[in-house]
Amino acid sequence: MNLATKQLSHAELLELDARYCWHPFTQMQTATAPLPVVRGQGEFLFDAQGNKYFDAVSSWWVNIHGHSNPAIAQAISRQACELEHVMFAGVTHPPAALLAEKLIQHAPAPMAKVFYSDNGSTAIEVALKMAFQYWQNRGVPSKKRIIALEGGYHGDTFGAMATGKSSGFYNPFAPWLFHVDFIPTGVCACTEEEALAALDQLLADSAGEIAALILEPLIQGASGMRFTRPAHVAELCKRCEAAGVLVIFDEVFTGFGRTGTLFAAEQVAQFGGQPDIVCISKGLTGGFMPMAATLTSQAVYDAFLSADVGHALLHGHSYTANPLGCAAALTSLTLFSNEATWGAIERIEATHRRWLPALACHPLIENPRVCGTVAAFELKSSQSQCGSAYGSGYGSNASQWIRQTFLELGIVVRPLGNTVYWVPPYCTAPETLENAYQTLMHVLQRWGSLIAPGPGSELF
Ligand SMILES: Cc1ncc(COP(=O)(O)O)c(C=O)c1O
Repeated sequence: MNLATKQLSHAELLELDARYCWHPFTQMQTATAPLPVVRGQGEFLFDAQGNKYFDAVSSWWVNIHGHSNPAIAQAISRQACELEHVMFAGVTHPPAALLAEKLIQHAPAPMAKVFYSDNGSTAIEVALKMAFQYWQNRGVPSKKRIIALEGGYHGDTFGAMATGKSSGFYNPFAPWLFHVDFIPTGVCACTEEEALAALDQLLADSAGEIAALILEPLIQGASGMRFTRPAHVAELCKRCEAAGVLVIFDEVFTGFGRTGTLFAAEQVAQFGGQPDIVCISKGLTGGFMPMAATLTSQAVYDAFLSADVGHALLHGHSYTANPLGCAAALTSLTLFSNEATWGAIERIEATHRRWLPALACHPLIENPRVCGTVAAFELKSSQSQCGSAYGSGYGSNASQWIRQTFLELGIVVRPLGNTVYWVPPYCTAPETLENAYQTLMHVLQRWGSLIAPGPGSELF
């Protein structure tokens, strides 16, 4: 047991939590009790009563090599005994410099520089500030508008909220969000055309006012695992490049193997599109430490070089480049040079694909899809029997029922409305994922009887 924490029983933990904790994305008045987790190992979480749960969502998509991965845990422990933290303004340290080198070696072209921060939202804020100031420093202050994709989610700080307005989470803050031009997401051939047309129009009318386009390449995560083709993303990039508009890839979710390549940008590059700025977080430290980075091209970096301190990026966080985070990230990246990691990623994708036909013909499922280690589909409800492709609300009854039902069966999921998805840690054993699919079939049976016309169905 950790010296700083007291051993708590299942009930004590829940009681203490209820008394003092305020959970994220949670209506505390109506929420069911949280899952009291005391231990994690590999793809599993354990509660205080010894019950085991498959973490099918990698703890909000951060965990890639499994819980309590020994190599990462040891790297953090060693680093903690050497140098736990030091400010990164006017100071450097080996883990930060080594990690920056390694990130640039692995990052998509033309990334050349690493600016550290501490979570996905701050990586986005940094990227937006870089984009705004890049044009000011270059003497084009008129370029201050941002284009984003409908349905995009980029985090919960103000700039990130402005660029992800359509998520529906931000209504109370609407008066404080700056204007953003939204274009269609391009999740199918017709909206691809609409997206390109909308972008062309914006660039034709106002390229001189537009600083950057921001998007989640290949997968819009939080809005319901909406997939876009790499060729389409490349088209958007090429048009922006031609019009002198920076492109920001938000790879906070897609980075570190999620889409089958280390970065989604690699797949976009095959079609000739590339970003100027890339935001990474989540899997960066293997899910161990809160950490993020905003990577930029040399050209973006160079625009901040000047004798004038006002041209510098005057931004930073207390825990910028935290050595423990850097040590975890270095070890996590090393695990990617191990063929076993890529074998595991391929096996997860193969299992998802093997189940696709069964899901595709299931009467209660719509739009099953796979991209790398991510599989997603919509559950039909009485509200969307055959209609809407993408779920009905983050905190809906349907979502809570699905979560609770899977939990009772030993699987942690976190549906996005009616969208259910698997985003497992890469260390997930094939039989664990296989069992999860079998459990899904069982859950679907129960779902079917609940949404059948009759008493109780109105819940959904
Ligand atoms: C694509 C994307 N960008 C940014 C964020 C924000 O990251 P964080 O929650 O670490 O602030 C998220 C979080 O889910 C995300 O999925």
